[in-house]
Amino acid sequence: MAPLYLLAIFSICVYHITASLMFTGQTLLLNDIPYYVPATPLITLPSSSFLADFDSAEGLVPVTVVALPTSNFSLSILEAVVSGFGVDDVWNEGFLEAILIQSIGGSAVTYLNTSFTLPGANETSTVYVLSSNGSASTIPSGPYFASNTGSLYQPLRLYSDFAGAFTQPLVSGPNGTYTALPANIAGIQSPAVGVPSRLYYTQTPQQPLAGIRLGVKDIYDVAGVKTSDGNRAWYGFYPPATANAVPVQRLVDAGAVIVGKMKTSQFANGETATADWVDYHSPFNPRGDGYQDPSSSSSGPGAGEGSYPWLDLGLGSDTGGSIRGPSQVQGLFGNRPSHGLVSLEGVMPLAPQLDTAGFITRDPNIWVEAAKVLYADLPFYDTYPKTLYTVDFPTSGDDEADAVVLDFLGKLEDFLGTTSTALNLSTLWSTTKPQGVDADLDDFLNITYPILISKEQTMLVRDPFYAAYAAAHDGRRPFIDPAPLIRWAFGDSYPNSTLTDAITNKTIFQNWWSSQVQLNDSITCSNSLLLYTAGAETVYRNEYNGPPQVPAGFSPSRISPFASNPDFVIPIGEAAYNSTITLHTEYLPVTVDILAAKGCDGLIFSLVQDLKEAGIVNTSLTGGTIYGGEILLR
Ligand SMILES: *[C@@H]1O[C@H](CO)[C@@H](O)[C@H](O)[C@H]1NC(C)=O
Ligand SMILES: *[C@@H]1O[C@H](CO)[C@@H](O)[C@H](O)[C@H]1NC(C)=O
Ligand SMILES: *[C@@H]1O[C@H](CO)[C@@H](O)[C@H](O)[C@H]1NC(C)=O
Ligand SMILES: *[C@@H]1O[C@H](CO)[C@@H](O)[C@H](O)[C@H]1NC(C)=O
Ligand SMILES: *[C@@H]1O[C@H](CO)[C@@H](O)[C@H](O)[C@H]1NC(C)=O
Ligand SMILES: *[C@@H]1O[C@H](CO)[C@@H](O)[C@H](O)[C@H]1NC(C)=O
Ligand SMILES: *[C@@H]1O[C@H](CO)[C@@H](O)[C@H](O)[C@H]1NC(C)=O
Ligand SMILES: *[C@@H]1O[C@H](CO)[C@@H](O)[C@H](O)[C@H]1NC(C)=O
Ligand SMILES: *[C@@H]1O[C@H](CO)[C@@H](O)[C@H](O)[C@H]1NC(C)=O
Ligand SMILES: *[C@@H]1O[C@H](CO)[C@@H](O)[C@H](O)[C@H]1NC(C)=O
Ligand SMILES: *[C@@H]1O[C@H](CO)[C@@H](O)[C@H](O)[C@H]1NC(C)=O
Repeated sequence: MAPLYLLAIFSICVYHITASLMFTGQTLLLNDIPYYVPATPLITLPSSSFLADFDSAEGLVPVTVVALPTSNFSLSILEAVVSGFGVDDVWNEGFLEAILIQSIGGSAVTYLNTSFTLPGANETSTVYVLSSNGSASTIPSGPYFASNTGSLYQPLRLYSDFAGAFTQPLVSGPNGTYTALPANIAGIQSPAVGVPSRLYYTQTPQQPLAGIRLGVKDIYDVAGVKTSDGNRAWYGFYPPATANAVPVQRLVDAGAVIVGKMKTSQFANGETATADWVDYHSPFNPRGDGYQDPSSSSSGPGAGEGSYPWLDLGLGSDTGGSIRGPSQVQGLFGNRPSHGLVSLEGVMPLAPQLDTAGFITRDPNIWVEAAKVLYADLPFYDTYPKTLYTVDFPTSGDDEADAVVLDFLGKLEDFLGTTSTALNLSTLWSTTKPQGVDADLDDFLNITYPILISKEQTMLVRDPFYAAYAAAHDGRRPFIDPAPLIRWAFGDSYPNSTLTDAITNKTIFQNWWSSQVQLNDSITCSNSLLLYTAGAETVYRNEYNGPPQVPAGFSPSRISPFASNPDFVIPIGEAAYNSTITLHTEYLPVTVDILAAKGCDGLIFSLVQDLKEAGIVNTSLTGGTIYGGEILLR
């Protein structure tokens, strides 16, 4: 008898294995849109028998929850509310199979099991009332999957990271930790990234960033997740972080939703696509022909903000240009803040005297709200200085990018009611430099930056890493990309006392800047605003550039690292070029940098908001240009 025989086999095969078995959620398609349904439900409904009537996938029914006050409840209000859900990128009409009303306050409503056809929808939804008293905890409105056991799950919509901007997409795990998103969709070297519906969130004074989708440069610790610092050996060697870095925690506490870690060039050093990026492939800049360098080191946040409408905010870091570069070449708002506005505990250092945490984003309003959270108690100002300086500005608009810059300058002058003054920093330095300093500006600061970053990073990052790795791997050295190696070797070629010289030179420059160029002002915070521009040059990622260079020399981008003052990038337009890739006219973003005295970040944030109000700057869009359009590399 076969059944008995099978039973016998079974009884022989019972071993006492202690398996660790863990459900990690599931994926499904609704109207061809991919979703991830997490393992843990938001809530379990007291009764779910009504769901038995609906189409389901493995017991999951798509439903829409609508939280409505009972006081003025009616089907027409329900209609009005649900028809507004179409703006959300996670909700789709498939979630209208059933509508669950979360009725807030007051007495019961009477629409249980009412058939209901929404305008624009072809099929009838059935409306159920979830609870009809004020004491039940509110379930946020939006798309859900309900199981036949009553579990109500908040799904994530899955998007492809086609620009290669992420190192690791994340979902929240237990106890405030994060874990890898266990889901994927089609795409070569393009992991799926999951985002929650915006409908769940209401921004409040306590949660000003509620629902803001945040990507975090992979030099910041995120609890439960390994940090890579852009280096494969580092990622493999060190255990997951046990806590969020301080800047990350501030954003999470304010309601930001971490959707993943984003690419950094290695150890936040400057790398140019493609050859320098040995350990991980450089992200793709979506602008123009799609084969321009995305700049570094906050390359992931820059490429991601330029590419993905579903990503609101990138947390980057800037030591010598790592937020400003990606913001410039991708045409985004990016801020290098005044030094020291937020603790960098839990963030990999490059040079603590210069390291800062800031944002890359398309939207100046999100930018300001996020800054208020990250730099708590930042003062804002509404009166602007009348002194406006330019450094190394074009003098004629013959070149298209130069014309855009001069046009912006004219509008800013009108807005401020002033005329700008061109500053020649070398000349100003030689006439006003501190006593006892003979060197001209270029000599004084030529090696200050490369000495600071190399001496500090070798001491704080390289040496402990090499020692620990060698101890664990029989004396072996980990692989390091050429750019950090060349910089570290430069530091090694100087005596340790050079670091003291570099700090001295930096401090002298900072004091000179705050006493001769941008001074504190009791009304306008900074006595002046200062502009420079990065132009709109092509840097093709399919060209070989030779070995990376030590970042010596002085340029306007070095002012803020040395003077510790804010330097914000503002997109102002675009300029055409003839692409050697597409053999077609393409467009690159044009930006300006605005600087103020140290501590006057709020002044620049206010100015940008006022310039937006005045139509002089605009929100940047994702796409082939800052005004939108197809991304060619997709
Ligand atoms: C419901 O009523 C309140 C005040 O009674 C009102 O403020 C609100 O706009 C109403 N909601 C809708 C959706 O009409
Ligand atoms: C509803 O039906 C119309 C006509 O058949 C069709 O064009 C439209 O795409 C349908 N809408 C939805 C949301 O399915
Ligand atoms: C309100 O609803 C909740 C959940 O259904 C229930 O536990 C509670 O007893 C109800 N409260 C009142 C006052 O009816
Ligand atoms: C969460 O933290 C609590 C208290 O520290 C601990 O008891 C529990 O096991 C943790 N849960 C998980 C899933 O790690
Ligand atoms: C600044 O002045 C010096 C000395 O006159 C000159 O060599 C240099 O070209 C000037 N720089 C700019 C940007 O005009
Ligand atoms: C600046 O330093 C670099 C690196 O040591 C050196 O190659 C270059 O000649 C220096 N430039 C000046 C102006 O001193
Ligand atoms: C500091 O400035 C002196 C000139 O005063 C210069 O010779 C030296 O190279 C500078 N050193 C560093 C590390 O910046
Ligand atoms: C220079 O500093 C490094 C890092 O602190 C240290 O390991 C090294 O011994 C120092 N070298 C000298 C010559 O003091
Ligand atoms: C592109 O090439 C055409 C033809 O050579 C030329 O007329 C045009 O000025 C070029 N445009 C740009 C932006 O360089
Ligand atoms: C100017 O203000 C900044 C920030 O408030 C402060 O750090 C700096 O010490 C002030 N400088 C002077 C000269 O008062
Ligand atoms: C901003 O948008 C307004 C309105 O669409 C437009 O007139 C203006 O030219 C734009 N400004 C920039 C800098 O793109």
